[in-house]
Amino acid sequence: MSTLPMRVPERVPDTVFPFRVPASQFFGPGAVERVGEEAQRLGARRALVITDPGVAKAGIAGRVRELLEAASIATGLYDQVEPEPSVASVERAFSAAQAGTADGGAYDLVAGVGGGSAMDTAKGVSLRSANPGPIQQYFGVELVPATGLPMIQIPTTAGTGSEITPNAIFDDTERRLKAGIVSYRLFAQVAIVDPDLTLGVPPAVTAASGLDALTHAIESYVAVKATPHTDLYALEAIRLIGANLRAAVARGSDRSARYGQMLGSFYAGISITNAGTGLCHAMAYPLGSAYHVPHGMSNALLLPAVLEYNMLADLPKFVKIAEALGEPVAGLSPREAALRGVEAVRTLSKDVGLPAGLREVGVPEEALEGFVDGALSAARLVDNNPRRPAREAVLEIYRASY
Ligand SMILES: [Fe+2]
Repeated sequence: MSTLPMRVPERVPDTVFPFRVPASQFFGPGAVERVGEEAQRLGARRALVITDPGVAKAGIAGRVRELLEAASIATGLYDQVEPEPSVASVERAFSAAQAGTADGGAYDLVAGVGGGSAMDTAKGVSLRSANPGPIQQYFGVELVPATGLPMIQIPTTAGTGSEITPNAIFDDTERRLKAGIVSYRLFAQVAIVDPDLTLGVPPAVTAASGLDALTHAIESYVAVKATPHTDLYALEAIRLIGANLRAAVARGSDRSARYGQMLGSFYAGISITNAGTGLCHAMAYPLGSAYHVPHGMSNALLLPAVLEYNMLADLPKFVKIAEALGEPVAGLSPREAALRGVEAVRTLSKDVGLPAGLREVGVPEEALEGFVDGALSAARLVDNNPRRPAREAVLEIYRASY
């Protein structure tokens, strides 16, 4: 009888590590049908559905309302979520929530239906239901004093993982800064993840959100806070996205590709919830804030150069990334194999039609230097990056991504 070698973590953590996810999760085609039952289980009587105009037009928010109402839960709709939501937009959504239902009753449940913007806005409304404004005071980690209305989160894109994470990202337009609120109080009570809801997502959105998910998977895999638990989810997410994103973009009706892509996004979300992101996200936020480059696209534009910079910090993990993306690495040195992984990311981004550089999305070259401070101000992310960047390195990565 052969003896199997003992599996040990690639990096032995020297601390006790937590592993948190929302209490209830439903994944699979048709999962959305569970929303009424789950809302009832939470004791809800009046639910506010929060979504953006596109998702409302596609009929998905309407379907969620029907399902809730069939379970005898009164509903209201807020469908004015803006992309990359500003702090002011959260206040507008909160005002709508305060108005209550037509019968004058107060909402006791918030349902976020959409991409990261809708789900994050739902988190903002929940937060404000129990805490005074302005929400900028809660930017940071675990600064939210009280738990607000319960939330059910239903993603309609495969990318942000916001249904799983305790993070909400808002644009503080006054300070021209995108920043995050991270708090266990922002965990949804229920995440309902139905890949069939993504069947109608246009190719460009599928591509950008897919690269966001890939960035989550890779950044959390090599993160300082990575743990044996998160490594499992992160590596599988990289595999799933590498295997499914092209087909999901090429033929949106491909249910198998949509399933794989949604599972990849979901696993990447579990991984960032517990291991966090890194330098790519830190560098992406100033682009979103100053030039309104969508979040997924910002990450896609920066990811290859960030990975090339980071790979020296952990070559064995970067070799695993290359393998997970299907690159043949046998016979290569670790450095060569790691570089193959970086190239595979660049090729994937190109194949799904994302722009190749910052110049293509209207960012002037003179602006690059101005992004460096904003990127480094996201200390939570920079500190979690496997390689500690100096100012010059950050500027160099922006330039290499131009
Ligand atoms: Fe992201």
